[in-house]
Amino acid sequence: MSMETIRQSEPVRLIALLVLALLLATGTAFAADTRKWATPAGDSIHDPESPGTRALQRPAEALSRLPPNSAGNQVDWVKALREGLIAPRTQLEATTRVQTLDRDILMRRTVEMPYVRFPHLAHTEWLDCSNCHEKLFKLKAGTTPVSMLAILQGEYCGRCHGAVAFPLTECNRCHSVPRNAKTTK
Ligand code: HEC
Ligand code: HEC
Ligand code: HEC
Repeated sequence: MSMETIRQSEPVRLIALLVLALLLATGTAFAADTRKWATPAGDSIHDPESPGTRALQRPAEALSRLPPNSAGNQVDWVKALREGLIAPRTQLEATTRVQTLDRDILMRRTVEMPYVRFPHLAHTEWLDCSNCHEKLFKLKAGTTPVSMLAILQGEYCGRCHGAVAFPLTECNRCHSVPRNAKTTK
């Protein structure tokens, strides 16, 4: 290495440091909450002319306090519930037996996609067994003829995902288990 290149490396190092500082600075900017929600008058759902629309709470006011998620209405609802930030009523009828089930089902008919892990716990914290059994899903793993096409047409998981739960564009949230992973049920 000649003296010439050594002298030139000083400004190069300075630029590298500057770039690093810039990356760190923008990194922290990305970490901040950048979520945005439409106002009721601007969401193309409510009538912007109606005085009732103006009386509605702005989604940002309620939702910005809840843990973030990139898709749908930008809230991680499972986390919000577990962290006690929301406390929805568990039942409508006093006679309903509220029960949860902590059992994951591994669904392997995914061709080249990662396997799907269906978590009973996250679902039964919101839903009753009868919401799914046995109209949507049979009570024996691997026996319901689920397919992605049917899901995209609003059947099976698609009854809720894309309607009231996170959207179907979030492939990895369902297809979460690498095909080569050692898996337990
Ligand atoms: C959101 C939908 C959903 C809800 C709610 C739900 N399940 Fe399931 N359940 C499934 C799916 C999906 C499967 C797998 C079906 C398949 O692979 O054919 C399954 C399978 C099962 C199985 C078979 C497990 C096995 O290894 O063979 C049992 C037992 C079961 N559920 C019990 C329950 C009970 C009890 C509740 C309520 C506490 C409940 N489920 C609530 C979706 C649900
Ligand atoms: C709400 C959960 C969910 C989401 C989101 C989801 N999938 Fe699936 N996917 C499933 C389930 C369940 C199966 C069926 C697994 C089984 O029966 O063993 C499946 C099956 C598949 C299959 C296998 C072939 C077929 O037609 O069934 C492919 C490929 C696939 N999904 C691709 C995708 C892609 C790409 C995305 C994102 C655009 C996606 N999935 C999003 C749950 C989901
Ligand atoms: C009856 C409605 C319903 C059906 C059917 C349903 N889900 Fe869900 N799912 C929910 C709700 C509600 C949540 C919680 C809200 C959210 O995360 O958007 C949820 C959350 C999830 C989560 C996130 C769990 C976590 O820890 O964050 C996964 C993964 C998931 N569902 C996969 C599936 C798969 C796979 C199927 C089909 C085999 C399915 N769901 C069928 C309603 C449903």
